[in-house]
Amino acid sequence: MVSNTIVLLFTSFALSVGPSLAAAKNKDTGWHQYVRSPVSKIVKPVGIVPDSIIGNVADPIGLIDGSGVTVLCRSDADDLLPTIVVDFGQNVVGVLSLEFSGSYNVTIGLPGLRLAFSETMKYLTDRSDFTRSDNADGNEKLTNGTDQVAVKNTNYTWTDFHGCQEDTKVCSDGLHGFRYVKIWLEALPSDAPHTSSLGSVSISGMSLEWSGYLGTPDTLTGWFECSDQELTQWWYDGVYTVDMGTDTFFANETEPRGASSPSLEGKQVLFDGAKRDRDPYVGDLAVASLTSYLSHDFAESTRNVLEDLALHQRDDGWIPPASINNYTLPLFDYPLWWVVCSVDLVMYTGNTSYANAYWNALVKVLDGYYPSHTDSTTGLLDKSADMGYGDYAFLPRSGPVTYYNALYVHALSYASKLAKDIGHDDDAARWSSRADVVGDALLSHNFDESVGALYDGGPCPGGAAGTICDVHAQDGNAIAILAGVTDEKTSAGILDYFQTATSQVYGNAFYDNSVLSPGDHFDQRVYAFISYFEIASRFATPGKASSAFDEIRRLYGWMAAHDPGVTMWEGIGPNGTAYEGAFTSMAHGWSTGIVPLLTGYVLGVQPQSPGFKTWTICPVVEGGGLTWARGEAPTPEGEIAVSWEVRDAESELSLVLEIQTPEASSGTVCVPTLGMGSPKITLDGSPVESLPSQSVGWVNVDVSGGKHVFTVES
Ligand SMILES: *[C@@H]1O[C@H](CO)[C@@H](O)[C@H](O)[C@H]1NC(C)=O
Ligand SMILES: *[C@@H]1O[C@H](CO)[C@@H](O)[C@H](O)[C@H]1NC(C)=O
Ligand SMILES: *[C@@H]1O[C@H](CO)[C@@H](O)[C@H](O)[C@H]1NC(C)=O
Ligand SMILES: *[C@@H]1O[C@H](CO)[C@@H](O)[C@H](O)[C@H]1NC(C)=O
Ligand SMILES: *[C@@H]1O[C@H](CO)[C@@H](O)[C@H](O)[C@H]1NC(C)=O
Ligand SMILES: *[C@@H]1O[C@H](CO)[C@@H](O)[C@H](O)[C@H]1NC(C)=O
Ligand SMILES: *[C@@H]1O[C@H](CO)[C@@H](O)[C@H](O)[C@H]1NC(C)=O
Repeated sequence: MVSNTIVLLFTSFALSVGPSLAAAKNKDTGWHQYVRSPVSKIVKPVGIVPDSIIGNVADPIGLIDGSGVTVLCRSDADDLLPTIVVDFGQNVVGVLSLEFSGSYNVTIGLPGLRLAFSETMKYLTDRSDFTRSDNADGNEKLTNGTDQVAVKNTNYTWTDFHGCQEDTKVCSDGLHGFRYVKIWLEALPSDAPHTSSLGSVSISGMSLEWSGYLGTPDTLTGWFECSDQELTQWWYDGVYTVDMGTDTFFANETEPRGASSPSLEGKQVLFDGAKRDRDPYVGDLAVASLTSYLSHDFAESTRNVLEDLALHQRDDGWIPPASINNYTLPLFDYPLWWVVCSVDLVMYTGNTSYANAYWNALVKVLDGYYPSHTDSTTGLLDKSADMGYGDYAFLPRSGPVTYYNALYVHALSYASKLAKDIGHDDDAARWSSRADVVGDALLSHNFDESVGALYDGGPCPGGAAGTICDVHAQDGNAIAILAGVTDEKTSAGILDYFQTATSQVYGNAFYDNSVLSPGDHFDQRVYAFISYFEIASRFATPGKASSAFDEIRRLYGWMAAHDPGVTMWEGIGPNGTAYEGAFTSMAHGWSTGIVPLLTGYVLGVQPQSPGFKTWTICPVVEGGGLTWARGEAPTPEGEIAVSWEVRDAESELSLVLEIQTPEASSGTVCVPTLGMGSPKITLDGSPVESLPSQSVGWVNVDVSGGKHVFTVES
């Protein structure tokens, strides 16, 4: 039964990989069921939360299904405040509208409604889990945690714009990211005399005007599907999370308030979070943009941000992390992420004009800013404690930190690769040799033989400069592996150490102990953002694929199974909770590494030169219990389609791998050998004779663009 299904699915793909990939996509629609996007920009709620109704509420479901009118009524000051909680079924973002069919008041003041929004039930209280007013001051602080309406006695639609109904009273915060909204009849004392806590309000409908990217199936230029429905679903959940943050930058919708910027106003950007952190930070783009490229091939939002930050580059080469505080927030690592994200942009979208336009900025980061923070005795980047610079998690660390140096090596090598492709040979040579020097210095200075992993690198809090604290971090170790600092044996040892030392049921923690910030439970905090690099390093290290799948299932399984479901969280704290309580953004693009992981490793598609002109297809077919996977990655010259199936007939394993790539491209296919010593491999029906460059578990075969079929059997 199961294998029949697989063969059928496979056959339909095989048929569809015809001359026209566009036609293929139209036929191949099985994955549509996983897409989370609303069908249109106008989103309706799905229900009323059971047991949420308080006081005198007539026909609570009326406003949901249009069958009637929901009436909230309070005729006496002793009555309970009539209340309902509306559920949109999943996290959404945009501007809410209520349709009223009248109101009635018995005292001075129209009946007042208050609205409190929340991404989760846990943090749904009489205040929104977060509003822009929470981080505002002075005139910008419109509300005190709820949005207010003075309901008029007519039939009309009220829309939650950022502003006040009456001068400075009866105010609302505007755009929200939320799943639940609590609505109750009550007047704020400070809104007197405009509203009253007595009277009745008739609500005939409710909808949200979606403000993110509307990622319906027809917009997806990439897709993914495999034999594990949960993994498949998480790919689309990740896409939806990034779609929520892909939005227009408006001063009245950003957060924190100090993030607004004239040079971004009105432009498409990729915000960090939907509810909060509505400011694009370049570190977050290191993951969120990959999701964006691989799903909708939508580069504009990323490019607008990267260009804007480059235009605010400081004379010493430093590039700001974001527009916040007029482009001055001091982060030490984010200029390196700007380099990595810039190279990603060119590799995934082929926009070499971007590379040429901002090449000088890139050179200034790598040859100006970081060399000026390199300690000549260790040969390592050294962040002095008194610089006051932070990083993606504002961690209290200084000195020759492994993460900064590993990321430096990664940025140097990756930029060197691009430099070679676009004719900057001198830059390429200089950066790749510096990458080797810094990588070697990192290993000789920061490696802890006793556990087989790199130290975090700096002193313990209060410790003398030059000492090394006994603590190890996920970020530096994972990125060091990906950057090629470690050999395969060392990489495997590091990954074994972290598997044992940091494993939680909800992912792997980002530190193996909490000495840097006692009380903050660093050893129980999980960042899906940084976990992306650890999981990628597991896929990239021979023999570690099953641990990659294991980490994926714990991390993404946990988020999928807990409120609000679907969207991916900014951070996870002790016991699998939202790490910063109500403040936590539960839809954060930097946590969507599942998308580049499944496309980049399970399908195995990665660019090797701008616009996938050359590529590698190295599918990981074992370790995850998968029997098949297929999908497409968009490139400027058309999709790269990959489909593989492992068959297990009476313990005889065999593999069929089909690829279709743009005619004008070429690349290397790493054909999985399924643990066989010398399997029979065919390419388009002919035996693959000599086996070039064997690496563990794979046989590498160079092919030209077009359609190719590989088979592997014993
Ligand atoms: C408002 O709409 C309702 C139906 O929803 C209708 O019965 C009522 O007469 C309308 N009131 C006004 C003032 O138009
Ligand atoms: C209802 O409130 C409005 C607006 O404040 C006011 O003009 C009207 O007199 C009130 N109606 C009653 C019956 O008090
Ligand atoms: C804001 O709301 C809190 C309770 O949610 C209340 O204690 C506080 O007094 C309010 N502040 C103002 C200025 O209304
Ligand atoms: C924010 O400002 C823009 C442009 O002025 C406007 O179109 C939008 O409706 C405003 N958003 C809200 C929620 O008020
Ligand atoms: C932001 O910084 C720029 C350049 O330093 C300056 O010209 C501008 O006035 C600043 N803007 C604000 C709002 O402070
Ligand atoms: C490529 O980048 C350049 C420079 O940043 C930009 O002007 C252009 O619009 C981009 N091209 C595309 C196709 O996005
Ligand atoms: C995690 O949950 C356990 C059991 O409920 C509790 O004892 C512990 O204090 C929690 N940990 C933290 C850090 O809150």
